[in-house]
Amino acid sequence: MAASGDLTTEILQTLSKTSPIQSQEAFPQSSFGELKAALDRLASRSMVTYEQIEKDEFILEAEAEQIVANGSHEARVFEALRQAVEGLSVQDLEKAIGDKSVTKVGQGKAFKEKWISKTSDGKLKASVESIKDVSREQLQTIKDTRTHPEAKVLIDLKKRKLIKQQKVIHFKIQKGEKFALEITKEETDLTADMLQSGAWKSAAFKPYNFKALGADQNAGTLHPLNKVRSEFRQIFFEMGFEEMPTSKFVESGFWNFDALFVPQQHPARDLQDTFYISDPKRADPPRATSPDDKADYKTYWENVRAVHENGKFGSIGYRYPWSEEESLRLVLRTHTTAISTAMLHKLAQKKGPDGRPPPARYFSIDRVFRNETVDATHLAEFHQVEGVIADYGLTLGGLMEFMEIFFNKMGITDLKFKPAYNPYTEPSMEIFSFHKGLNKLVEIGNSGMFRPEMLEAMGLPKDLRVYGWGLSLERPTMIKYGISNIRELLGHKVDLSFIERNPAVRLDKN
Ligand code: PHE
Repeated sequence: MAASGDLTTEILQTLSKTSPIQSQEAFPQSSFGELKAALDRLASRSMVTYEQIEKDEFILEAEAEQIVANGSHEARVFEALRQAVEGLSVQDLEKAIGDKSVTKVGQGKAFKEKWISKTSDGKLKASVESIKDVSREQLQTIKDTRTHPEAKVLIDLKKRKLIKQQKVIHFKIQKGEKFALEITKEETDLTADMLQSGAWKSAAFKPYNFKALGADQNAGTLHPLNKVRSEFRQIFFEMGFEEMPTSKFVESGFWNFDALFVPQQHPARDLQDTFYISDPKRADPPRATSPDDKADYKTYWENVRAVHENGKFGSIGYRYPWSEEESLRLVLRTHTTAISTAMLHKLAQKKGPDGRPPPARYFSIDRVFRNETVDATHLAEFHQVEGVIADYGLTLGGLMEFMEIFFNKMGITDLKFKPAYNPYTEPSMEIFSFHKGLNKLVEIGNSGMFRPEMLEAMGLPKDLRVYGWGLSLERPTMIKYGISNIRELLGHKVDLSFIERNPAVRLDKN
């Protein structure tokens, strides 16, 4: 920084002769930035103090420069006519001046000033001996001093677009407490050498700058969805849940719908609601995917068919011809309940100490797809938080209590439950919470107890009951981060600086 080094010496030398000084007089060539850097350097060592002074300055536009050089339009018209003595026709006047618009504007003004008049034969002539070119004088003053004593003149010339105003910043600089002609080098570290030699006693130490912002770490930032996801995961782990493997987006109709007792005519299976895969179209029938999977898939498949067609396990079924083709169509999973179902089917094969499937708690948080019209609160893909609890002797009251505890951990309290319908749960409940910001109840989840048609078909014992619930990850994230349009959160419209600005940690939990 040689330049600022030179400037600091210059400032110190100038100050040693007079103090205070004005920067625009003492250093007219230096830019604002250079001066400020040099002054800050000196001020941080208390060698100078300075004040920033803002002033309005006026500078001439190109047309005004012309006037200063050649006279105002009206003065030029007058001068041409005065020289002609006999007067001039308008055309000749134009020729004499050599500029049409100057002639036109100047003529008008000169008439107004009564400097010129018309002769009986239609010529123009000067009607006074001499004039005073006030405009030119005013502009000359502004050119020299960058201002004019009369504010009225400044306003008028600005209106006529002859001058423009600009803010300039000057510095008023004074000697500081520790003024000296040279900057002494300040030590930034106390070294072993200084201690040994005793140099520390006389060394000048650079003061700590507690206001320094620190270097930009340029670090990565977590997306709000990721932050809320990790909060949910933490809660699930805390409550003894195991994470389900959800790393596949494509499912067969069997796992996504049929195994869940969703009839093949159900509107959710429409093209308008579900994305179907066109290539390949068809899945393999459910089968073991690992050597230690000893489940009897054939029986399961037949049980599902029976439950749909004629009923089984105490159910009368839907009574329609169940189509294998339909069951094997490939879909983008519409919910992660497809995974819960496969996990429960696996659970049916497990044996606890008493030889029966042991209680289990599963969860997942992953992406699902719905063929929906995209708007401020709907996307065609979103993330689902899903939980399942399997145990003996569970009751609906237990599910409600569990929901209270679970959502409380997210800072969501005062739940309301509303009866609902899912083909795979009975009873089913929608979960609502009062949203203080919106001043209304908002739906936060869907839940229920899985139907015997679904569980017994897998071979799970009759008295094993299963709670299930699901919610979108986006809904609570939008509430927690005050986002009103889902497209600001997910998709191509997401503003990266919004992601960066969000707090790393929220302290709004109970
Ligand atoms: N699958 C339901 C949904 O997508 C959520 C749910 C899961 C409901 C399990 C009940 C039981 O909304």
